[in-house]
Amino acid sequence: MSSNKPLKVGMIGGGGGAFIANPHQKAIHFDGTRKVHSVALHPDPKIAMDEAAAWPYPVKGYESYDAMIAAQKDLPKEERLDYILVVTPNFVHFDPVMKALDAGIPVVCEKPLTIDFDQAKQIVAKVKETNVPLAVAHTYLGHWSSWFSRWIVESGLLGDVRWVDSYYLQGWLASKLEDTGQTQAAWRTDPKRAGASGCGGDIGIHALQQLRFVTGLNVTKVSAHLECMVPGRPIDDHFTVYGELSNGGKCLVRASQICHGHKNDLGITIAGTKGLLRWNQEDAESVTICLPDQPDRTYWRGAISSNDGFLPEIPEWLLNEPTIPSGHVEAFHDAYARLHREFEKDVRKFNAGEAWDCDGSKYANVHDGRMGLAFIDATVASSKNNNAWTDVDLG
Ligand SMILES: NC(=O)c1ccc[n+]([C@@H]2O[C@H](COP(=O)([O-])OP(=O)(O)OC[C@H]3O[C@@H](n4cnc5c(N)ncnc54)[C@H](O)[C@@H]3O)[C@@H](O)[C@H]2O)c1
Repeated sequence: MSSNKPLKVGMIGGGGGAFIANPHQKAIHFDGTRKVHSVALHPDPKIAMDEAAAWPYPVKGYESYDAMIAAQKDLPKEERLDYILVVTPNFVHFDPVMKALDAGIPVVCEKPLTIDFDQAKQIVAKVKETNVPLAVAHTYLGHWSSWFSRWIVESGLLGDVRWVDSYYLQGWLASKLEDTGQTQAAWRTDPKRAGASGCGGDIGIHALQQLRFVTGLNVTKVSAHLECMVPGRPIDDHFTVYGELSNGGKCLVRASQICHGHKNDLGITIAGTKGLLRWNQEDAESVTICLPDQPDRTYWRGAISSNDGFLPEIPEWLLNEPTIPSGHVEAFHDAYARLHREFEKDVRKFNAGEAWDCDGSKYANVHDGRMGLAFIDATVASSKNNNAWTDVDLG
């Protein structure tokens, strides 16, 4: 029998003015069925404990993530953490994820899953060995409109996918922000802490996962340009990848951090043999479908009918998904909440000894995480080799 008690989440990272821990903890608390229970907020043990004591609601603080994970084995099963959330910079993903899996604790890890492809393969092997649920926090897959777009492609309405343009444009690193000591810019522009690709590993990977999730296709081969537009930066801030898709189609996966005026401009255009689909996360409540010689149709979350004479019959799980009526706008936090909500379902099944899914249809799983790093690995190799066509290791 599964329990209805809120799941207890242990959060690794989040102190010292961290960025993404804050939206995550909101998303965890969104439904009242999960709560942040324990925290290891900082690499410095004293700061970690001080910040835990000052946290706006009661949490159990630990001096380190090692201490948090180690403490679990001495607790009765019902008092243990139900899952761990890793929201540290990229170079502090591998170690806590491996330790949590070894301790049998499910994990939500921020993207990219690891700092390099080799570590990602080790985590895949560990998940296989331990059989513990793992999610990678590719936020934007949590939009209802991403699920709807995926279903549209699957339904065949667009025909065969011939071309995809998947992009993520930002402007916040258009000057050398890292020289001001800005924390998030500092580690993102340091290959030792971010990984071999800066812009690609940070946001190009979101564009890749949007493409993979919505089309169900892989990028099999890449010709990549990883460029640094801001002088003196040791890592790419501009990432352009021409690719081949697993169905023979072509794609562009592009990202940039030097485009003034673009904030979090993630979007996708999918051109099929029969029609086209367009979506942008800054306007994430709707999806536009264009068929030849017909007016463009825009579908909104919560405002579609099961049979409008145009769409194939829409499954119940897509129709009934709305959390609030359309017009009350959902955005980033809702997308994160949807990922935690779906992961919760798998964790509750795992806790009850039942079969769980983690199949990548609602949130990115360990295989998706590995594919992200395989893609980055291939783009780095291609770019170093005069943009030569390079195979992506599909496993
Ligand atoms: N999915 C998304 O949309 C999205 C958005 C932003 C960031 N991210 C990812 O989230 C991660 C964190 O990014 P951020 O911008 O929040 O970084 P940040 O620098 O703002 O925060 C990192 C946090 O990790 C903590 N930390 C570092 N080492 C630690 C350790 N050994 N033990 C405990 N805590 C430790 C820091 O104290 C800080 O609280 C990155 O992997 C990034 O790629 C994802």
